[in-house]
This record gives sequence, structure tokens and C-alpha cells, in this order.
Amino acid sequence: MVTRKNDIPPFQENAIYAHIVGWGMSVPEQVLTNHDLAAIVETSDEWIQARTGIKERRIAGENESTATLGLKAAQKALEVAELLPIELDLIIVATSTPENIFPSTASLIQDWLGAVRAGAFDLSAACSGFVYAVNMAAQSIRSGSIQSALVIGSETMSRVMDWQDRGTCILFGDGAGAVVLRASDVEGGVLSSVLRSDGSGWDLLGIPTVGSMDVHIPEASPNGHKMHKMHMNGGEVFKFATRVITESVTQALDLAGLEMSDVALIVPHQANARILHSAARSLKVEADIFMSNVDRYGNTSAASIPIALCEAIQQGRIQQDDNIVFVGFGGGLTWASMVVKWGTPEYAARRALYQQRREFSYFLARWRRRALQWSRRITETVSRIRPERGRMRRLRRKIDQSNLR
Ligand code: UT7
Repeated sequence: MVTRKNDIPPFQENAIYAHIVGWGMSVPEQVLTNHDLAAIVETSDEWIQARTGIKERRIAGENESTATLGLKAAQKALEVAELLPIELDLIIVATSTPENIFPSTASLIQDWLGAVRAGAFDLSAACSGFVYAVNMAAQSIRSGSIQSALVIGSETMSRVMDWQDRGTCILFGDGAGAVVLRASDVEGGVLSSVLRSDGSGWDLLGIPTVGSMDVHIPEASPNGHKMHKMHMNGGEVFKFATRVITESVTQALDLAGLEMSDVALIVPHQANARILHSAARSLKVEADIFMSNVDRYGNTSAASIPIALCEAIQQGRIQQDDNIVFVGFGGGLTWASMVVKWGTPEYAARRALYQQRREFSYFLARWRRRALQWSRRITETVSRIRPERGRMRRLRRKIDQSNLR
């Protein structure tokens, strides 16, 4: 799927652009270093750093989950965007580690935020998920059907790791990042995107779980992988990643009518520092054009791009009117690139007391949830009692009639 800046004829005269106006991240406090890992599997700090660039990663605590991390990132993004939850039209959570197959993690976050006017769904495109989700949100805004969207990339990869497999467990970490997109008539925002998939690599990287192919809950997937644990053919995925970064970044720039020299920063999926060095060589650019924080968080799958984006902004690496590129790649196989002209347009006068109103919305959401759950319980109990009474009445009438005979 390819979308380009000039591909929206109905809006040529009064174009609507989708700008990123808010961002936020949340990572667990618990740090797992390479030295800690060396006590779990046969590996070493030297090997991990040399082959991946990773020094440490964050691991979710007992009370943390994909939804709680995603919620915190979302609240921060709403704060930056100065938007109330009730103003959101759409919430998308890109994740490979949702709370459940369904209902969606996005619905849970929608409820916790009190975003009562928003639609919500999870998107499954592995490590490319965030770019896919931003594209979906941006296209909905550009079509004029919605005004604002919240896109979250959130993962608790530690929960699906096979802690005996040193080929994967050293790579991944937990965390969440979020962005808020809003409609504006100021030119810029999401300029182009390239979304791609090659399902012939379905077996190279995945987390087998119970699906429509299973008639009973099996011990192992049909091709022998452990159920509910991640597996990966690292070498093949490495080759695929370096190839598609170069290919899709070039395509996305082409669609936006830009050249590599127009790009201020590439915010890639954080999988392995060597992949980025190799992609830089093939794009003929300096490696520091790639934002990298893989050393501190490892691979956080769909969360890695928004986390890296937040840190790039914090470090002052993104300025007004900069052209930046997102590029994701991973299971599916899937990959995606997107060009964004950075700049947060001024919206009508910032409204006072927004922070307090957001806090009130979260407070209200808790009580609304409790009230609705209680009212459902009461209705259910009453409806269970009523037919019982009816049945009792009919039974008594039958007994009475038989006594009369
Ligand atoms: O987010 C989705 C995208 N994912 C990726 O992009 C990941 C892509 N793949 C990679 O990053 C790399 O392939 C890995 C980091 C997973 C592996 O690095 P590699 O340089 O491709 O190593 P390898 O699998 O070719 O293994 C080389 C050697 C092997 O030993 P022998 O057979 O040469 O004796 C492995 O058994 O390194 C060994 N090895 C390790 N040694 C110490 C593999 N994992 C480890 C380890 N510690 N953790």
C-alpha cells in the first residue's frame, strides 16, 4: 500500500494535513543488563554489545502491562498536544503483546482515558506496527473523516521471551511510546508512506499462540516452536532488515518528492546497531542520521520508534520544518517507511485548565467504569431472578390445577 502527498484529489483545494502534535513515552524502571543476562543464558556483555549494540533493556514489573505502559505514554502525549481525551476520535495500539487476543488493548486504554467519543482497535504488524498505525490515523484525518487520533506502540516483550533462547532473549525489552495526530490546513505532517508485507517469511519471526488453525491447545506450534514464546531466524531477519530499510526509505522519499539530502533525521525501528550501520552504508549517509537508543532499551518492537522519537525531540535533534523519516521492519514479514514534515501548527487559543480537565477525565473514567460495571451486574442479577419467579408462578399454577382434578 502506497500513499503519497498529492494522492488526495477531493481535498486539493482545501487540503487537510495530519500533524504530529503530541508525543510521550513510558518505560519500566526495572533494568536488565547484559551482565544480568549472562547469569541466565550462556552469553556475555562483550558478545551482546559487539553483535547488537545493546547494553541494557527495561523489564515490566508485576503490575505493569502493555496497557498500563501504553496509558502512561498516551497521557504524556495528550499533555504535549494540549488535548482532552474526549476530543479524540480514534485510538490505535500497535502491539504484538496485547493484554488479550480480544478485547483490544486500545479499548482498555480508551476507557481508562475517558475517551468516550473515540473508536479503538489494536493493529498487528509486529515491529512495523507503529508506522502502519500512524499511516491509518493520518489517512483518516486526511480524508476528513476524523480530526484527531492517538497512536500508541506498546510492548511487554519480556512476557513472551523464551529465556532459554540466547538468540532472542538478549535482544528484547519493554516500553511504550505514543503520538497524537491532528488535522490542520497548514501544509506538512505525514507526507508519504510505504507499507509492505512478504508473508513468505511468515515462519522467520513470530509468537505462536492459539489461533483458528488449532482444534485443541497444542504444546508446540505445527513447525515445532514453543507456544506463546517468541522465535526468530536472526540471520535471515538481519539480511531482510538491511535490504528493506534502504529500499523503503528511498521509495517514501521519492513519493514525497524529496531526496536523502533533505532528511534531517531517520527514526528507525531499534533492532540492532549493526543493521543501522549497514543501512547507512547502503544509503550512502553518515550513520548518525539514524536516531539510535538501542543501547539502553534493546528492541521494544512496535514501541521502539515512538520511544526513539521522544528521545530525539528531548535531545533537540528535531526542529520545526525538518523532514524526518520513520522506518519499521519485522514479523510478517512486514516493513514500512514514512516521511513526516515536522512542525506543530498553532491551534486556536490554548485553553486554560487543560491539565486539570485531563486529570478530571481520568478520575471520571474510573467512576464511569465502576458505575457501568455495577449497573450491568445489577441488571443481570435482576433478569436472572425474574424468569425464576415466572417459572415458580407457572409451576405453582400447574400444582394447583392438578390438585383441583
Ligand atoms: O525486531 C524484528 C527485527 N529483528 C531483527 O532485526 C534481528 C535481526 N538479527 C540480529 O540482530 C542478529 O542476527 C542476532 C543478534 C540475533 C544474532 O547475531 P549474529 O551475528 O547473526 O549471530 P549468529 O546467529 O550468526 O550466531 C553467531 C554465533 C553462533 O555460534 P557459532 O555457531 O558460530 O559457534 C551462535 O551460537 O554466535 C552464537 N550466539 C551467541 N553467543 C553468545 C548467538 N547468540 C548468542 C549470544 N551470546 N546471545
